[in-house]
Amino acid sequence: MSTPSATPSFTILGTGSHAPSQVVTNDDLATSIETSDEWIHSRTGIRARHLSGPEDTTTRLAVNAARAALLDANLAANQIDLLIVATCTPDLPMPSTASLVQNELGLSPRAACFDLNAACTGFVYALDTAWAMLSSGRYHHALVIGAEKMSTVLDWTDRTTCVLFGDGAGAIILGPAPADHPASGILAARLGTIPSTSDLLRIPGGGSSPLTPEARRYITMKGREVFKFAVRGMEEVARELLAEQGLATENIALVVPHQANLRIIHAISEYLEVPRERFFINVERYGNTSAASIPIALDEARRAGRVQRGDLVLLVAFGAGLTYGGALVRW
Ligand code: COA
Repeated sequence: MSTPSATPSFTILGTGSHAPSQVVTNDDLATSIETSDEWIHSRTGIRARHLSGPEDTTTRLAVNAARAALLDANLAANQIDLLIVATCTPDLPMPSTASLVQNELGLSPRAACFDLNAACTGFVYALDTAWAMLSSGRYHHALVIGAEKMSTVLDWTDRTTCVLFGDGAGAIILGPAPADHPASGILAARLGTIPSTSDLLRIPGGGSSPLTPEARRYITMKGREVFKFAVRGMEEVARELLAEQGLATENIALVVPHQANLRIIHAISEYLEVPRERFFINVERYGNTSAASIPIALDEARRAGRVQRGDLVLLVAFGAGLTYGGALVRW
């Protein structure tokens, strides 16, 4: 948990997102594996996902999203002094994706740049980390990116996982709340990890442990168990955040949840008693883009006029670990 003091207030000054141009529908997938649009859509809400070609590296996706966010915030790249890239699909083990992004964007050599891996909760972890670093007074403007090339860690013959994920990137700029709207800002954030759940969702090979026929660099998942923990974790963190701020679910104008599965989102809506209309949902067009899913959704929500000045926005996510986290933002 982290709740730096409310003053000075740091807020989201701009958002951006980018997805590779290739769109692959459920029907497209059904030409190569035994599945159907009916099966995938009825269990997940997904109709299509964007998939990268070789030229769309995680870095390239991140850079495009970052450029859009900088433009939106009306900031120059050299005003950024902190860059965090949340990803579990970096281009390389080292250097970090953030270093590669820094180079392409032309950020200041004094900018702190690093990657953060909390899988699909990565963006919320990165947001909270950036907020804490800004609140220390040592950094001024943070670029926080969620970027994933999930297509590289999928076994395209495993229908239980490959139909669920997609590629993309989203970015935000965090900085001091504008003088004419000092009430805007991140109000609270909470992070957590559920013990003894690390076997439920993993990429067993490709780190420092050896690759074997059993431990390949592909996602494995116990879907039903992940589903239950996801709903419970996100509901709990949302309730804790609201209680900490003395707010109620009625105060929430928009929930931007991790986009993994429409049924999970509907279950949270039911348990929190927040109507479905107050959730921003785009999982049908992207699938699960892991750490990129919340910043892509937030960017689309803003550009669609779903977020207005003064609105209370809840971000909530879960992912491998199993990790979970949430943040409350006053727009
Ligand atoms: N197409 C067709 N059939 C498929 C399929 C596919 N793509 N994938 C699995 N099936 C089959 C299974 O083999 C199983 O067949 P069987 O009964 O003959 O063994 C059957 O469909 C039912 O599978 P089941 O696991 O019962 O489905 P489900 O209702 O639990 O849905 C998930 C599966 C993965 C969609 C669901 O569990 C889920 O979304 N879990 C959360 C996963 C998640 O969000 N992960 C990301 C976390 S960040």
